[in-house]
Amino acid sequence: MRHVMSPLDFSVEEVDRILDLAADIKANPEKYAHACEGKKLATLFYEPSTRTRLSFEAAMLNLGGRVLGFSSADSSSASKGESVADTIRIISCYADICAMRHPKEGAPLVASMHSSIPVINAGDGGHQHPTQTLTDLMTIRSEKGRLDNFTIGLCGDLKFGRTVHSLIKALIRYPNIKFVLISPDELRLPDYIRDDVLVRNHQQFEEVVRLEDALPQLDLLYMTRVQKERFFNEEDYVRMKDFYILDKAKLALAKPDMQILHPLPRVNEIEPEVDDDPRAIYFKQAQYGVYVRMALILTLLEVEVC
Ligand code: NCD
Repeated sequence: MRHVMSPLDFSVEEVDRILDLAADIKANPEKYAHACEGKKLATLFYEPSTRTRLSFEAAMLNLGGRVLGFSSADSSSASKGESVADTIRIISCYADICAMRHPKEGAPLVASMHSSIPVINAGDGGHQHPTQTLTDLMTIRSEKGRLDNFTIGLCGDLKFGRTVHSLIKALIRYPNIKFVLISPDELRLPDYIRDDVLVRNHQQFEEVVRLEDALPQLDLLYMTRVQKERFFNEEDYVRMKDFYILDKAKLALAKPDMQILHPLPRVNEIEPEVDDDPRAIYFKQAQYGVYVRMALILTLLEVEVC
């Protein structure tokens, strides 16, 4: 039995296989419509979510399985003081696989230690978000045709943004990727990623504050929102929240084929006027998330579809 805590839990070859499977699911959805009949997915969400929880549920439903779960800590026994370890022991009796999101870093890892079903980390605090990374990799591979040889700008809240942390860890395994880290000083990438992941692995990267300075060289731009819920005080959030706003005027500085990703939700960092630009692929990205989660569920449940 396997759990998924970090994008590095899969080798590059395994990631390729999951992305190939996701592409086949996209092309032939009817082939997979009954693959998980009789199986149940539990979604244990102690933190708000729209896309991740619902795309997991849609994924299991598309596979002919069923879903159960809760969408906030308040509606679970966590509000009565139950531990994650006890909750997962119980959920293991009710479901075949589970996706857990938690505000505390490491909570899904604790759950996995007490679980008799596969646990998928669906986002733990400011730490990791491996299934968003698989979604991002599928989006890049499908839209760009490759996962190597590009310059990617990561813009916004690089300090608390778990999607960025996971994506960097996954991308350093592919050749010739340059990272441009675009953030205000206060929201720079934490040392444990910059030094321990980028520097230690001799990756090409630079840090810039102005989005305009970075835009002309980028093949991909990964925008993120400022993570309001992880700030210690409201004042700092208010000061940071509109630091980056991508609009049509700024987009004019970008390459004609630069693609714009965003894990969503978007707050103010991308003007709606950008949505119609063919380079804006963030809504498509959310759709890829369903195929990738279908592929992941099949892989972890070891269901083969011929
Ligand atoms: C992201 C998350 O939860 O980390 N959302 C998502 O899962 N698509 C990004 C965010 O909340 O900003």
